[in-house]
Amino acid sequence: MKALILSGGKGTRLRPLTHTMAKQLVPVANKPVLHFVMDQIVNAGIKDIAVIISPETGEQIKQSLGTGERWQADITYIPQDTPGGLAHAVKIARPFLQDDNFLMFLGDNLIQGGVNHVIEQFNNEKPEAVILLKEVANPQSFGVAVVDGNMQVINLVEKPKDPPSNLALVGIYLFTPLIHRAIDSIKPSWRGELEITDAIQELLNMKHRVLARKITGWWLDTGKKDDMLEANRVVLDEYATCNPAGTVDDRSTIAGRVQIDAGSSIIDSTIRGPVVIGKNCVIENSFIGPFTAISDNTVLKNSNVEHSVILENCQIIDIPRLEDSLIGSGTRVMKNNNNQKILRLFVGDDAEVIL
Ligand code: TTP
Repeated sequence: MKALILSGGKGTRLRPLTHTMAKQLVPVANKPVLHFVMDQIVNAGIKDIAVIISPETGEQIKQSLGTGERWQADITYIPQDTPGGLAHAVKIARPFLQDDNFLMFLGDNLIQGGVNHVIEQFNNEKPEAVILLKEVANPQSFGVAVVDGNMQVINLVEKPKDPPSNLALVGIYLFTPLIHRAIDSIKPSWRGELEITDAIQELLNMKHRVLARKITGWWLDTGKKDDMLEANRVVLDEYATCNPAGTVDDRSTIAGRVQIDAGSSIIDSTIRGPVVIGKNCVIENSFIGPFTAISDNTVLKNSNVEHSVILENCQIIDIPRLEDSLIGSGTRVMKNNNNQKILRLFVGDDAEVIL
């Protein structure tokens, strides 16, 4: 089996961050989402992997994943000139996929526990496709599936006004090569994209068997700021370890699972995990609360931060309370003598915010 990771797209919902970086490389708990995706694919025993890239962010993705050596995998990059849709990505990957079965994984999605079980089901039951579904409170915002009592898919609807179920399609799919025939017979949707839901519906119209698997653990789709913060919260909660490798002075308190990478200094501060702090950071006279990730070379002085993601090379100075914030690299946030106590920020790379 091969794998196809979709790491192109526009990432408009995560602007301004995605003006300068690929959304799949935004870190969750200081590690790019795409690296978690690679981990899950390789853990399932798949080593032959193609990655769809866009002209804007393709080079960054290549630099980040390289040849795949770090995962002992073989990566082939496939440029997609325009984001023509998920089925368009499969279409252009056909020379790579050939007549093999494949796992398709959206580069900004993650599920708890990985994909081993779903691959096992696909291999044992031999349907033409397996899709993953998750119960959601707002099915209107997703592709939605209707299934029978045996978890066979009956039909699919994209962002229904009147949802026939609350089962949303997760961005992880398994296909046999028959999907190429289905893609050949669909037309672009109203938004001008070749939709993978239309291709799967076409498999159903052709009377082929598509199975669904309901996931009960977390599903992270990191397309928007609040999704990103939620992903950071969930991943820190699950994976953060206690590893204070940097220096911590004796006026500081570290509580719970806190990772501090080499070269970072904690001075007269309190850190309450789960928290990760990258390399060469300075945290001085500050409080860092749970579910915060701080990337390399960032300085925090006289500030309180909680439930936030701060990328590399930032300065946060004299900010009494920063919450629920996603801050791009090279950003400086400083106080300007006013009395506002809570700040909620969504600021792009290299911005300067003085309040
Ligand atoms: P989306 O999040 O649906 O699309 P997008 O990245 O363009 O984001 P936005 O809606 O904010 O503009 O894409 C899901 C994943 O699939 C994401 O990792 C990007 C990737 N993708 C491609 O590689 N090619 C495509 O043609 C599309 C539409 C998405």
